[in-house]
Amino acid sequence: MTTKHTQSNTKHPDAKAKGADAYRDPSWWYDIRGFFILMGTYQVFIGNHLSFFARNLGNRHLEAAIGSGTFLALTLITQRLKGRTIPDEIVGIDYAESMLNGAKKLFRNKKNIHLIQADLSKIDFPDAYFDSVNIAHSFHAFPEPEKVLKELFRVMKPGANLYVDVLLAPQGGYIRKAIATKVNNFCFRKGILARTCNLEETQAQFKNNQFEIVDSYIKGNTFHLIARKP
Ligand SMILES: C[S@@+](CC[C@H](N)C(=O)[O-])C[C@H]1O[C@@H](n2cnc3c(N)ncnc32)[C@H](O)[C@@H]1O
Repeated sequence: MTTKHTQSNTKHPDAKAKGADAYRDPSWWYDIRGFFILMGTYQVFIGNHLSFFARNLGNRHLEAAIGSGTFLALTLITQRLKGRTIPDEIVGIDYAESMLNGAKKLFRNKKNIHLIQADLSKIDFPDAYFDSVNIAHSFHAFPEPEKVLKELFRVMKPGANLYVDVLLAPQGGYIRKAIATKVNNFCFRKGILARTCNLEETQAQFKNNQFEIVDSYIKGNTFHLIARKP
């Protein structure tokens, strides 16, 4: 991959450090707004995101930063449509109460889905518990990504994969860049985006936390990364 991304993974100066408080809005509103954010800033068609994350649903799956649960629900539908197995156990963790309330409502009849309000930098599960981990649209929102990576590595089984999409600094032509910059600035002010990322630094971040990079590619402004616990 030859593209150079000059912006580093450091926190954006306009980013408000609100943590879970940034996600106080009702989850239905998050879903509607999220669709436009996806188009404006990630610049990836939702179908691409769904087939990416549906490829990583192990038998004991952790959905890290599950949010309102809508994206996971769509991932599971994608999985069913492809005729693939649904995990026996799914754990969804998020620290924002209002988001998690949406997920609780959505999955109220699903006995295999457990929802936990917690910070991902301290996961109350034993070592080597999960077969797979997905972090959808959230890595660049983590206030402390290093702590989260350490903790995810701990709870993953050896050989388990972690799939993540990481928001890069806006790139492409003038119009594409202008739209993404505008949407990002809105997200920084709302506190729902902590940083846009740099490809090389993000890869290094995973490697420094003992992950092996299995594959990675860019679509739109999004860096898709598959990392494995050796
Ligand atoms: C942009 S949303 C994405 C939610 C969901 N994955 C989706 O694709 O719709 C980011 C989520 O990350 C959660 N989050 C950010 N940092 C977190 C942390 N350290 N621990 C738990 N949840 C976190 C927020 O509460 C929010 O629900």
